[in-house]
Amino acid sequence: MAMKILISDPLAKEGVEIFKNEGFEVEVKTGLSPDELKQAIKGVAGLVIRSATQVTAELLAAADALKVVGRAGTGLDNVDIPAATAKGVIVMNTPGQNSNAAAELALGHIFALSRHIARGHRGVKEGKWEKKQLRGREVKGKTLGILGLGNIGRILAELGKGVKMEVIGYDPFLSPEEIKARGAEPVSFEELLARSDYLSIHVPKTKETTGLFSAANLAKMKDGAYLINCARGGIVDEAALCDALASGKLSGAALDVFEQEPLPADSRILFADDLVCTPHLGANTHEAQVNVAIAVAQQMSKYLKTGVAEFAVNAPR
Ligand code: NAD
Ligand code: MLT
Repeated sequence: MAMKILISDPLAKEGVEIFKNEGFEVEVKTGLSPDELKQAIKGVAGLVIRSATQVTAELLAAADALKVVGRAGTGLDNVDIPAATAKGVIVMNTPGQNSNAAAELALGHIFALSRHIARGHRGVKEGKWEKKQLRGREVKGKTLGILGLGNIGRILAELGKGVKMEVIGYDPFLSPEEIKARGAEPVSFEELLARSDYLSIHVPKTKETTGLFSAANLAKMKDGAYLINCARGGIVDEAALCDALASGKLSGAALDVFEQEPLPADSRILFADDLVCTPHLGANTHEAQVNVAIAVAQQMSKYLKTGVAEFAVNAPR
């Protein structure tokens, strides 16, 4: 009997085709409630997710044939990895496959903030000509601080240099030489806060990074700086960010990810003029979605057929 794959978040058709061509039985069921998912997981050998499906200990307990969870993308904060390991389920992601898309969005936000693109657009549509109010700044010669010089951070470093910015970076898991090789001047976290005109966050959401941009750390940022978060909601304390914008401490901020998705919980986020928002669009390009779909389907097929686990993040015994 063919092994069953459940795709519980939207996946590009190229990935679905690979599973079918490899002889798997494929079910695409997106937007399920936790209870519906617990029913749907029965008999499933491979579960394909993006960021919406929560792979909890409870869901894993309901799984009776599950061997692998494949994340079409990077972030794994929606997967209970210790529970998967205890259950003998491999968890894998597709590093690098959507990094260019996310880095380009971060650069887009840097320009949107500097030139008031969102507010200018809204004003014109509302019949306002706010030319005088919307004088911008050029990014050339400004300091771009990057938190996390992994797959996305390193691409943004190159993009930043391409538009003539000075690039500095902090990543405690890389040596100063590696950070330099990735295009940034290595600095401490405190220096990153103090020196960046634009600070862009590209770290995973972990115990250490949750709430990292607290009121205390926002206060250490350079006066008038801009903060960009295209990584994960919850790394920036949204209430503290709204306060920092309201007080004029920061000139602006851009959020692609929120403490609560879909749609932010703090209504001040919706009304702050100097806060540009996008609905978790970082990886949402045609190119990236095809890349992650192909990669996850190839990796999961290989694991289910041969036992070889590429880009696994756990090692169940
Ligand atoms: P990556 O694993 O390649 O890089 C992350 C880097 O962060 C690593 O170099 C790591 O050493 C560093 N890091 C970890 N903890 C740190 C800390 N406390 N301080 C500084 N650096 C730290 O990951 P990536 O592919 O570059 O993704 C980065 C983030 O972007 C992740 O949270 C991912 O989920 C998110 N992401 C979001 C979107 C989106 O749609 N908005 C798209 C892709 C990725
Ligand atoms: C990721 O971590 O890869 C992103 O959040 C992209 C996504 O799946 O939306």
